[in-house]
Amino acid sequence: MSRITINYLRELKKRKEKITVLTAYDASFTKHLEQAGIEVILVGDSLGMVMQGHDSTIPVTVDDMVYHTKMVSRAREHALLIADLPYHSYLNKEQALGNAQRLMDEAGADMVKFEGGGEFVAIAAHLIKSGIPVCGHLGLLPQSVKELGGYKVQGREQAAADKIIEDAQALVDAGVEIIVLECIPQQLSKRIGEEVDVITIGIGAGVDCSGQVLVLYDLLGITPGKRPRFSKDFLAELDGNKSITTAIEAYVKAVKNSEFPAEEHSFN
Ligand code: KIV
Repeated sequence: MSRITINYLRELKKRKEKITVLTAYDASFTKHLEQAGIEVILVGDSLGMVMQGHDSTIPVTVDDMVYHTKMVSRAREHALLIADLPYHSYLNKEQALGNAQRLMDEAGADMVKFEGGGEFVAIAAHLIKSGIPVCGHLGLLPQSVKELGGYKVQGREQAAADKIIEDAQALVDAGVEIIVLECIPQQLSKRIGEEVDVITIGIGAGVDCSGQVLVLYDLLGITPGKRPRFSKDFLAELDGNKSITTAIEAYVKAVKNSEFPAEEHSFN
């Protein structure tokens, strides 16, 4: 089997087959993801919380992202590999391009992701024109947690919902083909799917997205403390053969069958 491409993901969306995405931060877990058939691997800056023990993603550096993306890239065989540009690493076009090139050329990513619409649309357009595929991220933006006043559902009010749709369309006009939608009402992600021609990957955004993503450590019950409402510990819920690969396979099956996320993992 060859590498998964954006064309293949577009094909999955067209035939309404859900796309499976998970985070990974090292080579061993990447092998498990590959074995379970995950289509897209995200080296998320969530590593700042689940691996490094910070209380937000803000302290994560470009060097951290390059280090972890290299580890994942060495073990990756088929999945499309997306790496996050961390906090304050894409403040202007030149800085964004330099850091995105490091993630692609030095670390082996196929695409970079960064958070935000508005003024960041011009940065997305610049990267895409320079040959770097970009994944957008709208809704709850963990790098802006201080401005947002905590990890809260976004886009509940009409104006905020309209702004997210406007940002999604602007990113698409700039050439973005995948957008992660985090913690928004299910009805809003459905509307985005209907009004904007883009692959949507949800986390706390309901079942109507083109695909789903979770933080691997939440799915395996490794993350200490209270799990976010939108996630599910697939390992704990297995009957019989409890292994990392079977837990990831259960996630793949649940996403493909639209059984995950259920109502209890979604917001109105
Ligand atoms: O950093 C991350 O893991 C992410 C996902 C939560 C989408 O951006």
